[in-house]
Amino acid sequence: MFRHLTAGESHGRALIAILEGVPAGLPIDHQFIDSRLASRQSGYGRGARMKIEQDHAEFLSGIRDGATLGSPVAIMIPNKDWENWQKVMAPFETEAAAVRAKAVMRPRPGHADLAGALKYMHTDIRNVLERASARETAARTAVGAIAELLLHEFDITLAAHVIRIGPVAAETSRLNAKQILMRSEKSPIRCADASAAPKMMHAIDEAGTAGDTLGGTVEVLVTNPPVGLGSHAQWDRRLDGRFAAAVMAVPAIKAVEIGAGVALGHLRGSQAHDEIFHKGRNRRRSAGYYRTTNRAGGVEGGISNGEDIIVRATMKPIPTLGKPLRSVDIRTRKPATAAMERSDICAVPAASVIVRAVVAIEMANAMMEKFGGDSLREMRANFANYIRAITKSR
Ligand SMILES: Cc1cc2nc3c(=O)[nH]c(=O)nc-3n(C[C@H](O)[C@H](O)[C@H](O)COP(=O)(O)O)c2cc1C
Repeated sequence: MFRHLTAGESHGRALIAILEGVPAGLPIDHQFIDSRLASRQSGYGRGARMKIEQDHAEFLSGIRDGATLGSPVAIMIPNKDWENWQKVMAPFETEAAAVRAKAVMRPRPGHADLAGALKYMHTDIRNVLERASARETAARTAVGAIAELLLHEFDITLAAHVIRIGPVAAETSRLNAKQILMRSEKSPIRCADASAAPKMMHAIDEAGTAGDTLGGTVEVLVTNPPVGLGSHAQWDRRLDGRFAAAVMAVPAIKAVEIGAGVALGHLRGSQAHDEIFHKGRNRRRSAGYYRTTNRAGGVEGGISNGEDIIVRATMKPIPTLGKPLRSVDIRTRKPATAAMERSDICAVPAASVIVRAVVAIEMANAMMEKFGGDSLREMRANFANYIRAITKSR
């Protein structure tokens, strides 16, 4: 199994990820990993914190001379801001005055502040928000980049783009995955629709001026997956369920769709399902079967069907507002306005990078489950054997 855990507080010394189950012999492109981290930090609408942190992954174990060993991979992403926060966040011997100055007492509606402080019996909400902060997703982004490197070995690629910011929707139905990737990577808001992008940025500016925030929707496309990942046979093996759990576990993501998703509920069956054809050229990965539509988003019965996988995620607006909402001071229990931390106005472009990472992790996990192996060589042989077998037996 390709599994991982992360650790680290937002203003702590570093973020850590431990990743287990990566096959031996996978070449690790350090620059690719750092480029994914840089993408997570950029995008129109992000706050000042991103200018402080320029993330860089340091590898502590599991890699030797540029390739994985098959042992756990430990990754550290140092927090550049640490030196300014040591007196507040040090594991031992913090400075009382500094801790008091940074204490948070007025929970932000929409954040983990109140529920977390009550649950863990903390009197300083900082003890919750430091870990609840989406800074943690830098660690998941690094893990996702390694997952992508594994998928690249099997010619499976991922693209992610922004399809909605607040009221502004993009129109990309005529673009293929390659065009979407190229156009969205060039866009400051990671939107492949050049006419919608400026409207999205304008909507973010307007929200910021009003002391408000905005959410939106991102789409991830997985190109060239083989038929047969996941399974109908047990609930927790269903590929769509696994994508939904992983994507929903990204902070602020409140809805996940596979393929046409919510829209399918408005259609008749004859309009909703993707008819089946055979003798598709270059369709060895689905034994020659193909579809001319892809409303299922590449998953039927919890199993990949060989079409591109499409996962969409909707992010709520950021909970920290320039004009804070009403709240209650947890010391006095008197009405107060919510705390204000340095914050993003809109992090939907960044969320596209994170959702791509967690989809990559689930894809890598499903690939390992089906084609397993302790080394990349073994996994490649298993993959080739399976493709040969499904092609022959049909
Ligand atoms: C990339 C990214 C950046 C975020 N930046 C902020 C931020 O600057 N301020 C904030 O209050 N919330 C931010 N959030 C959202 C919170 O992390 C999230 O709403 C909070 O942890 C509560 O979790 P929930 O929304 O899933 O309930 C961000 C989320 C993501 C994915």
